[in-house]
Amino acid sequence: MQNKSMFEPDSPASECGFDDLLVQAASLVAGQNDRVANAANLSALLFYALDRVNWVGFYFLHGDQLTVGPFQGRPACVSIPLGKGVCGTAAETRRIQRVADVHAFEGHIACDAASRSEIVLPLIRDGALIGVLDLDSPVRNRFDDKDERFLQEIADLYVRSLA
Ligand code: SME
Repeated sequence: MQNKSMFEPDSPASECGFDDLLVQAASLVAGQNDRVANAANLSALLFYALDRVNWVGFYFLHGDQLTVGPFQGRPACVSIPLGKGVCGTAAETRRIQRVADVHAFEGHIACDAASRSEIVLPLIRDGALIGVLDLDSPVRNRFDDKDERFLQEIADLYVRSLA
């Protein structure tokens, strides 16, 4: 399997900065409202720009299950019932789940054994849950408040792009 580091840009996100990334994200979705296209490009942008992440992607709500959508990283679980795992919990509660140590999260679904921490943001459009944005890291406690605020802006941008 291809090693992500082979493709990492010269400047990690910490040098590029969240503001620059938000500008890039906005330009990627500008004029496009296709949910797959925008999820695909935003996943790729985040995966290659952020350091210490091993999976970035979207799950979409289908009935009472989340189904994997566009992502970057190793192959993932296809379906996650609402309320199950970190993703299903974020979807059911509609609250961001930031998990410093996935091994300590009861019911965590391990798609990539390398994952140590995770953040999942619910995607709400016109009051309805449409899916989640999920990021995994091989590093414990990878995601902090600043990451969460930035990723919420990405999630908001994505939802607005579908309008
Ligand atoms: N760990 C997630 C499953 C999805 S993968 O991380 C890609 C969970 O517990 O819901």
